[in-house]
Amino acid sequence: MTEPDQHSERQLQADGVQARVEELLRRMTPAEKAGQVTQYFYFRLPAGAETEPALGMDPDAQPRAVEEALGRGGVGSLLFVTDPAEINRLQRLALAGNRHGIPALFGFDVIHGLRTIFPVPIAMAASWDVETIQQGQAVAAREARAVGIHWAFAPMVDIARDPRWGRIVEGAGEDPFLGAAVAVAQVRGFQGTDYGQEDRIIAGPKHFAGYGAALGGRDYDEVNLSDAELWNTIFPPFKAAVEAGAGNVMTAYMDLNGVPASASRWLFTEVLRQEWGFGGFVVSDANAVRNLVTHGFAADLPDAATRAMTAGVDLEMAIQDPAYAHLPEALQAGTVGQDVLDASVRRILEAKLRLGLFDNPYVDEDRAREVLADPQHREMARVAAERAAVLLRNQGNLLPLDPDALGSVAVIGPLADSRRDTLGPWVFDFDLDETVTVLDGIRRKVGDRVRVESAPGIPVVQRVFASMFDMFGGNRPEDPEGFDADAELRRAVDLAGAADVAVVVVGEWQNMIGEAASRSSLELPGRQLELLQAVVGTGTPTVLVVMNGRPLDLRWAADNVPAILDIWYPGTQGGAAVAKLLFGEVSPSGKLPFSWPRTVGQVPLVYSHTRSHEPQNQGRRYWDEPSTPLFPFGHGLSYGQFEYTNLTLDHSSIQAGETVTVSATVTNVGQRAGDEVAQLYIHQRYGSASRPVRELKGFQRLTLAAGQSQTLRFPLGPDELRYWNAATRDWVIDTTTIDIFVGGDSTAAQTVNFTIGT
Ligand code: NOJ
Repeated sequence: MTEPDQHSERQLQADGVQARVEELLRRMTPAEKAGQVTQYFYFRLPAGAETEPALGMDPDAQPRAVEEALGRGGVGSLLFVTDPAEINRLQRLALAGNRHGIPALFGFDVIHGLRTIFPVPIAMAASWDVETIQQGQAVAAREARAVGIHWAFAPMVDIARDPRWGRIVEGAGEDPFLGAAVAVAQVRGFQGTDYGQEDRIIAGPKHFAGYGAALGGRDYDEVNLSDAELWNTIFPPFKAAVEAGAGNVMTAYMDLNGVPASASRWLFTEVLRQEWGFGGFVVSDANAVRNLVTHGFAADLPDAATRAMTAGVDLEMAIQDPAYAHLPEALQAGTVGQDVLDASVRRILEAKLRLGLFDNPYVDEDRAREVLADPQHREMARVAAERAAVLLRNQGNLLPLDPDALGSVAVIGPLADSRRDTLGPWVFDFDLDETVTVLDGIRRKVGDRVRVESAPGIPVVQRVFASMFDMFGGNRPEDPEGFDADAELRRAVDLAGAADVAVVVVGEWQNMIGEAASRSSLELPGRQLELLQAVVGTGTPTVLVVMNGRPLDLRWAADNVPAILDIWYPGTQGGAAVAKLLFGEVSPSGKLPFSWPRTVGQVPLVYSHTRSHEPQNQGRRYWDEPSTPLFPFGHGLSYGQFEYTNLTLDHSSIQAGETVTVSATVTNVGQRAGDEVAQLYIHQRYGSASRPVRELKGFQRLTLAAGQSQTLRFPLGPDELRYWNAATRDWVIDTTTIDIFVGGDSTAAQTVNFTIGT
């Protein structure tokens, strides 16, 4: 088919969708319309599930209420069901209860895979590998669509600069440029070029906007951000996701500058729709419309429904008793206009039609089983975990280990052989039997050649306050019976002492990170540091493997442990990837997507700070501890070694609006092949506002054999050089001098500059 034909074909389809939507709208009652803009959770919790304190509800009443609502056409969408047979059953109920034959839309938190679990999002961002990120979400989309899920509540594109906030694990870290690139890759992965295609689902960037800046890092706490921070730091990944065609956007729970984000007309109507041209539908976060009463903003549920809907929130995500059930009253009272409700219903119906749900509401359960078992998906998850791991330190080239030179390895630590923790948070449909732990991976890798012994060393550490995810079962780590803590610690240390090398796997249990998993400290929970110190104290060369979604306090390790490999929560194939990295089959290549603080007292800590009084003392802002990071943003070592030379520009001066191209040569001067992520930072010397000392404005991942060189080109145009200016309250490109730095992390030394004239 030629291009024009495709266009007209698409146009015809679009016209067909429009006509169908208008026809349906004409026939629907206000109650039916309210149903279409209501999304319910559907929980089937394990018997005896502890739903307090998160939900405070009777676990049996919830599904009963939803099925009753389905029976009267009161549900437009459902979430939290992953079993294809169950999805088909609920879809049958939806269609039987809807006299217009409108199917239900199924959404889910497909955050880093459905059955094949990829590394957590912060890890995927650490790969700085947009192709791998895109492919990962394409696998997730394929599995989700196969079971009947049409829409992912992902990517989370919230910029996170305070690692106390547990949801840092779900995003791309501190930087808006990297965040935007990662957001686009994920949207493309989920949706392809059109979410109506086979194996694709709708992407829903969230949480608009500012959620990552919660006061004190406390989840759901208020957020106060200047306009300059919003436009320059918080919005760019959302805007990029919208430009990439994201079909949905989710609201955020907290107050933004004193107004509940979920009722901000400025955010959803003025910025999202009017300024950025977003054409998809907006969903509230779970219960966020009802919460408008909790905020002390709406008087009651009808008022909450009115305020959210008129702000631009099309669909309410509810657990029970949705506020949008009151929309017919609001229509009658005239607080919500018919046109406003119709616009929201229209957007939901359009999505359903574009997905092809009216023609194909059910899934083929046999095909679902096949897709979920696809071995290629596991392969891709393993490669992603290899690319995401960050080698933080490698003193004396302890890594890679040579299996031929080793007689024995001790694999120590409470997370070394924990299947559930290897997967990380935000997964529900996992298969523990196929999950490869670090211990499994090492055993498989070395076979009979090397003796591998293992001990946890310390018991499971529990949260002080339970996680709301405990109610789903399998999420709370089980305390081993009869664990003699001191004896176990001694046993582990003895094993390490007798081995040729010790691999110590520590970090946070997966229920310690994610939603409602903020922390007041960054220390290794429990006696993990003591264990590590005792192992290192034996004199056995020690590799520290960190399992985490946030930076932890590694000050002691950074001085005393020769090799530190951050593997994040690496997913289904995590252990296989880690073994390949440890034994040098693959070189580590991840780079930190955040500045790694020394201690919690430093947070928030960003590389892109501005400069003021006594800049020479920037690293001494505290009298008791350096104010520099332990590891800088963009840091990550390799078994190769990279040198940057020939930093040049095609112009020494440009006019505002023009583009300059930066070239740099990267050479692998090491003995081994590896991937490097070359990074370009700018600094504006002067202008109509103070600008950060460095800002990431380009990066490229490349593979270089030992001795190989490659010359890279980075364009810097208006998109990279403009910024939102608090003085003029607008976008500007200043007349100024721009310094450029290119290298392997945010401390890159190679520099050159150019001017922007008028
Ligand atoms: C609340 C979370 O904030 C949001 O990210 C998630 O998608 C919904 N719950 C649904 O699980």
